[in-house]
Amino acid sequence: MMQDFSPGLAGVPATKSKVSFVDGQAGVLEYGGIRIADLAEHSSFLETTFLLLKNRLPTNTEFDQFSDDVAHHRRIKYRITDLIKCLPEHGHPMDALQAAVAALGMFYPAHDVLNPEVQYLSTVRLIAKVPTIVAAYHRLRRGDEQIQPRDDLSHSENFLYMLTEKAPDSFMAKVLDTCLILHAEHTMNASTFSGLVTASTLADPYSVVSSSIGTLKGPLHGGAAQEVVEMLESIGVREQVRPYLKKKLAAKEKIVGFGHRIYKVKDPRATILQQLAKRLFAQRGPSPLYELAEEVELVGEEFLGQKGIHVNVDFYSGVLYKTMGIDTDFFPAIFAIARVSGWLAHWVEQLEENHLFRPGQIYTGTHSQSYIPLAQRG
Ligand code: ACO
Repeated sequence: MMQDFSPGLAGVPATKSKVSFVDGQAGVLEYGGIRIADLAEHSSFLETTFLLLKNRLPTNTEFDQFSDDVAHHRRIKYRITDLIKCLPEHGHPMDALQAAVAALGMFYPAHDVLNPEVQYLSTVRLIAKVPTIVAAYHRLRRGDEQIQPRDDLSHSENFLYMLTEKAPDSFMAKVLDTCLILHAEHTMNASTFSGLVTASTLADPYSVVSSSIGTLKGPLHGGAAQEVVEMLESIGVREQVRPYLKKKLAAKEKIVGFGHRIYKVKDPRATILQQLAKRLFAQRGPSPLYELAEEVELVGEEFLGQKGIHVNVDFYSGVLYKTMGIDTDFFPAIFAIARVSGWLAHWVEQLEENHLFRPGQIYTGTHSQSYIPLAQRG
């Protein structure tokens, strides 16, 4: 007998996990039991990644070792660069990333997925090389040369350096690092779930991550930051915010950057990103795009707040990425640079007690139809 059907598997536990915890009513998000606000304030992306992978903070020695291992694996093979060069310059960066990650799996076979050494090495490789692939496509599609990574820089400093070849601005790198911490993990979201389904077949981690990248790309998930900035640019001026939102809602269309399957209060990550944006623009001068975003949140709250629909993590992140000089269609790829940590933490956890995912369905078709030969079907 089939259990109650829950569209989108809403509220149905797909696995047991220690990686992270969310309470959507209270607006609480924890990684390994530590509140996201504390990690955003005090941790770094690589330390947070270690926490996700091992369910505890590293010692000094462990942190140095892990950071060195990641820094050491940042370069990509010239044949991966050649592959990226062959991709169309107007293609979506998430497709380029997905293709390059799948190709990595051909260079670094990792079939023995239950072997802890294989797990560690492929985890380090993916966390290290995904930013290099993203930065390479950002430059190569414009006809610029790829910039080789530097192992003396932090994860975020190195990424900004690979985009511009300029000495990284430490405050901007800190802002990016905080964005990466906030996007690193979020319980059983769609991209993590799709990665877990792939992992449950004992597929290699490059296939797991490329499945997750394909899922993250969609506008209902990681594509939202890009669409928020596109929305703000199309609204253009403060006076147009109210008419724009009214028109959209009257047409029963969704406002991007608002709403979340889990959060019924403001996404705690959006609150942290907004504070970060305020600090950044107080220091660097006002941002018209940020001011417009605040106005959209204010008016959007008026229309949607009482329905429990508030801004989500992707509402303010795009404004920050734009300020860093990152192309708008690359925002989902920045999300992937962060979320690869969460995907891999769940991959390792899944393999501790693996069960092949094979859900049921409720059949809504017919039975006992007769086969009519093609010639008689008209
Ligand atoms: N704007 C206007 N109305 C909305 C919005 C929104 N952004 N989000 C939900 N609603 C309304 C729906 O129209 C629906 O109303 P109804 O009951 O009157 O028909 C109701 O709220 C429920 O909406 P669902 O889409 O069924 O709720 P769900 O929990 O599946 O929504 C989702 C979550 C998909 C994120 C949705 O809020 C959405 O599409 N938001 C816009 C896209 C977005 O910002 N995505 C990023 C999410 S964060 C992340 O993935 C990292």
